[in-house]
Amino acid sequence: MLKIIILSAKETIILGIESSCDDTSAAIIKNDRILSNIVAGQKVHEAFGGVVPELASRAHQQNIIPVVDAAIKKAGISKNDIDAVAFTRGPGLLGSLLVGVSFAKSFALGLNIPMIEVNHMHGHILAHFIADNEKKPSFPFLCLTVSGGHTQIVLVEDYFKMSIVGETKDDAAGEAFDKAAKLMGLPYPGGPLIDKYAKEGDPNKFEFPISNVGGYDFSFSGLKTALLYFLQREIEKNPNFVKDNLHDICASFQQTIIKTLFKKLTKAAKVYQVKDVAIAGGVSANSLLRSELQRIGHNHSWNTFIPKFEYCTDNAGMIAIAGYYKYLNKDFVGQEIVPTARMKF
Ligand code: KG4
Ligand code: ZN
Repeated sequence: MLKIIILSAKETIILGIESSCDDTSAAIIKNDRILSNIVAGQKVHEAFGGVVPELASRAHQQNIIPVVDAAIKKAGISKNDIDAVAFTRGPGLLGSLLVGVSFAKSFALGLNIPMIEVNHMHGHILAHFIADNEKKPSFPFLCLTVSGGHTQIVLVEDYFKMSIVGETKDDAAGEAFDKAAKLMGLPYPGGPLIDKYAKEGDPNKFEFPISNVGGYDFSFSGLKTALLYFLQREIEKNPNFVKDNLHDICASFQQTIIKTLFKKLTKAAKVYQVKDVAIAGGVSANSLLRSELQRIGHNHSWNTFIPKFEYCTDNAGMIAIAGYYKYLNKDFVGQEIVPTARMKF
């Protein structure tokens, strides 16, 4: 009898490291399949209404070794099985990035394995290609990447051929959520809380302005100021205004942000004639953004893509998948690499 031996192609195991802001995360990926994805958040910023950079880097320093250790254990591998280490080089807070980059350098040096630099924003987009997502977009597609630091519409033509079509001129969408929450006395990060309270509110109760900048760009700083003046006026009449109207304020504010985002995304999809439209980044965890993508997408006959919830906010799984595609291209960096707060897209 003829014996057929199928030699399976060697599988690649990559350790991903993410430390650009206030989450310390490590993931192990085997080709495009996540084996573990550990995220340690930092509660220390809650009381400050935003991330305090110095406190963030100190917490990364404390968390990085236990988080990597937990990722390796959960994946059921030994560190000697790892073929390469991928890390976020930027953009982000320099002190935070330094911890992840320095760790990646020593880890790679100790094991004599290659290092792969990843742009955090590419990571958010490439999270769509992690195997356990329901479906993957086809090239070319448009991705609305919305996070605490960025708001971009990106034309994605290949894994690493991406161009920014439009972006925010001032605050990011996540920043607008967080600053609004702070004005209402809610802790950081306020985005998930506004999302939660909005569920029981009337989105048409209060009217806030939709910005009108050119092209496919965005602006959210005027909206934040409009909310500030609105709250000041109303609190003068009723000191309990926020408490009495929390759900309606959250629903109305959230609806304004989501309408602003879709106004530009719809225009871009039409002009660039793409049918695959995706969202990514922390704000893509927002329930109205997710449901509106499906509703508006259906009306425009788009194929719509939303990453699994755990791949939306900052996590090392997205860095590991980006690292995997770079590994296939042997796109490695040397020990001279340094983090960069503002990284070219
Ligand atoms: O991508 P990400 O985890 O970190 C950055 O790269 O910035 O995004 C964090 C942002 C924060 O501004 C947070 O408030 C926002 O994502 N966010 C949300 C939701 N979950 C996270 N905003 C609105 N609704 C949510 N459910
Ligand atoms: Zn992010």
